[in-house]
Amino acid sequence: MSRVLVVGGTGLAGRAVTAEAVERGHDVVVAARRVPDDDSDQYVTGATYVTADIVTGDGLEEALDGVDVLVDTSNGVGKQAANVFATGAQNLVHTAARFGVRRAVLLSIVGADQSAYAYYRAKAAQERAYLEPALDTRIVRATQFHDFVTAIFDRGRPLGALLSPTGTRFQPIAVSDVARVLVDVVEDESGEPDRVIHVGGPRVESARSLAEQHKRASGSRRFILPIRLGGALGSTWRAGRNLVPEHAVDGVGYGTWLESGARA
Ligand SMILES: NC(=O)c1ccc[n+]([C@@H]2O[C@H](COP(=O)([O-])OP(=O)(O)OC[C@H]3O[C@@H](n4cnc5c(N)ncnc54)[C@H](OP(=O)(O)O)[C@@H]3O)[C@@H](O)[C@H]2O)c1
Repeated sequence: MSRVLVVGGTGLAGRAVTAEAVERGHDVVVAARRVPDDDSDQYVTGATYVTADIVTGDGLEEALDGVDVLVDTSNGVGKQAANVFATGAQNLVHTAARFGVRRAVLLSIVGADQSAYAYYRAKAAQERAYLEPALDTRIVRATQFHDFVTAIFDRGRPLGALLSPTGTRFQPIAVSDVARVLVDVVEDESGEPDRVIHVGGPRVESARSLAEQHKRASGSRRFILPIRLGGALGSTWRAGRNLVPEHAVDGVGYGTWLESGARA
């Protein structure tokens, strides 16, 4: 059993990691800027919650004291992303090294190192901060979550549509499968494993096919609206830099996830 700190453990992926690590018997501490109420769906019974801000550094020393493995599942949106990823990672890495943390596991995105999209560039800066020699780091780059792909389709809701990016394929993955891989990495004591690990959902499918599955499963009457996604994100996805078919998990596919009504 290890003491595991899940930074961002109140978020979508972080909650799944927290639940998986608690389930496997680890002593789990969750750090975020807000501690959830114990009756909220952000709260995982068996975990301990502390407040910490990785950008300002407030609460980090207390959170990292006695920790064996740090798992970073934090996220930043909009203009905050660069701060959370670059400054946050530097603060975490340096404080963790001072407190003798044995290993750090970072959740990143497939293609983060191959895109000019601002969010991906911020993720790449976060990865670089973790690859400093101060810590034994493993980076897990995952493909798009089922929830994320669904959110793209649903951005068309005000138009009565499901938005489907043209020329784009996804390999969506359940956050429960991402969590399983991250906790495997937390526990991995074998020799000298790869520092960067890729993981993708069970199947690569066109955005159109996934949107059709969403439409069927939700019984939606919305029409599927093809859109050409501009900018660096659109070209990254159309080039297939979001796919890792050779690293597909034997896990929950998009259709199964939709049918189960899962949000995990
Ligand atoms: N979405 C995808 O398809 C996808 C695919 C692959 C990888 N990823 C990566 O997965 C990671 C997690 O994404 P997610 O969607 O699960 O995130 P999320 O739901 O937005 O959760 C973000 C978490 O970070 C915490 N956080 C934000 N700013 C913080 C700060 N300054 N200090 C401490 N904690 C802070 C939040 O809590 P507070 O706000 O209370 O602080 C929350 O717990 C991201 O790094 C993302 O790049 C996402």
